[in-house]
Amino acid sequence: MVKALDGVKILDFTHVQSGPTCTQLLAWFGADVIKVERPGAGDATRKQLVDVPGADSLYFTMLNHNKRSITIDTKNAKGKEILERLIKTCDVLVENFAPGALDRMGFTWERIQELNPRMIMASVKGFGPGKYEDCKVYENVAQCAGGSASTTGFLDGPPLVTGAQIGDSGTGLHLALGIVTALFQRETTGRGQKVLAPMQDGVLNLCRVKLRDQQRLKAGPLREYSQFGDGIAFGEATPRAGNDSGGGQPGRILKCKGWQTDPNAYTYFITQAAVWEKICDVIGEPGWKTREEYSTPAKRLPHLNAIFARIEDWTMTKTKYEVMDICNPLDIPVGPILSMKEIMEDEGLRATGTIVDVDHPERGTYVSVGCPIKMSDSPVEVKRSPLLGEHTEEILAQVLGYSGEEIKELKAAGATEPVKKAAAE
Ligand code: COA
Repeated sequence: MVKALDGVKILDFTHVQSGPTCTQLLAWFGADVIKVERPGAGDATRKQLVDVPGADSLYFTMLNHNKRSITIDTKNAKGKEILERLIKTCDVLVENFAPGALDRMGFTWERIQELNPRMIMASVKGFGPGKYEDCKVYENVAQCAGGSASTTGFLDGPPLVTGAQIGDSGTGLHLALGIVTALFQRETTGRGQKVLAPMQDGVLNLCRVKLRDQQRLKAGPLREYSQFGDGIAFGEATPRAGNDSGGGQPGRILKCKGWQTDPNAYTYFITQAAVWEKICDVIGEPGWKTREEYSTPAKRLPHLNAIFARIEDWTMTKTKYEVMDICNPLDIPVGPILSMKEIMEDEGLRATGTIVDVDHPERGTYVSVGCPIKMSDSPVEVKRSPLLGEHTEEILAQVLGYSGEEIKELKAAGATEPVKKAAAE
């Protein structure tokens, strides 16, 4: 079956997590993603957090499905020639090097445009233009600089980073959208363009509601925050809100049966206004329905701590799944706190291909996250990540048209393999 991005060629100069997340999505949508890696070493994550000695790590395999790998020494003259040919042939160049690295290689935006005016050059950087533009940035730095850490955690604790990789994978998602949008615009202009997704900006985009709250502070305390019910004054900035719901419908994480021994025996519970009466009945407090101080959402706000404490008395008598089974038919929004172990075994996620088993020649079968976006006319088949340089010759011959003799010369010149290491062996 034809895929959405069939025919699109991506020169994938990405490494670690942010860029690879982006190009993996494009590969799942059908683009031919050609990952350029340093001969003999490759993406540093291949050998990070190794769990199977000698095999590519899960860090690498889980971010590089459906791609082809070519090794090119881009600091070698012949290697640069190969890269120039790739730039002329491909539609998109994606990179997330430290600022300036591509320029130092000799591939400025001006040079890339000279080689291929239709080229879309897409970059992840830690920060956008300004005083921090030269900084190297990893996930947690972006979470801190993008406003996530200052608004995550409990009021009486330090700022916290989240388990969701919003700086890396989140920015990769933003970049992927920028790329397909630029491809769409190229259909009318015929021109490529530069696409930049700074990690700080991407995190901030995901923290939009916290900037909303920053401005609401001018109008008085944030009444849906539990700190309001606790009588604690608000300061100048959006505070950390623990597990309070970020929206206008108050919610908390509550203990369920077994919480004493199971760290994930909890449920999220939202006291949505529309189902307030059903909540009162379910927890055995029908009298609350006529209680004056609980009669409207606004009146309930100062009493949320007492309300949730009583709801928790009820959830503690049920497992998190029983809470779900009882509340769902009543339209009461709840959600079990699922561990990664439970998610890995979830039949529903497996049935939709969001959790997949992948075979790998070096490591055997491993579990991965498949494509989370489902398209009816562009189904995704998750294929294992490439071994380092697995497709070098194939790409040189089939994509770039080098002859067998020329490929031998490129190897001898150290353009695609570490020459000294090969001679010593
Ligand atoms: N052949 C030869 N050299 C190569 C090469 C190849 N195929 N591929 C990369 N290199 C070289 C580059 O030319 C550069 O060398 P230079 O610094 O001498 O010019 C170097 O390898 C690239 O390294 P850099 O990007 O600086 O890697 P790093 O490991 O030092 O830093 C990051 C890693 C992630 C901190 C940095 O790349 C970065 O800040 N990226 C942007 C933000 C980002 O994406 N962060 C999140 C990562 S998940």
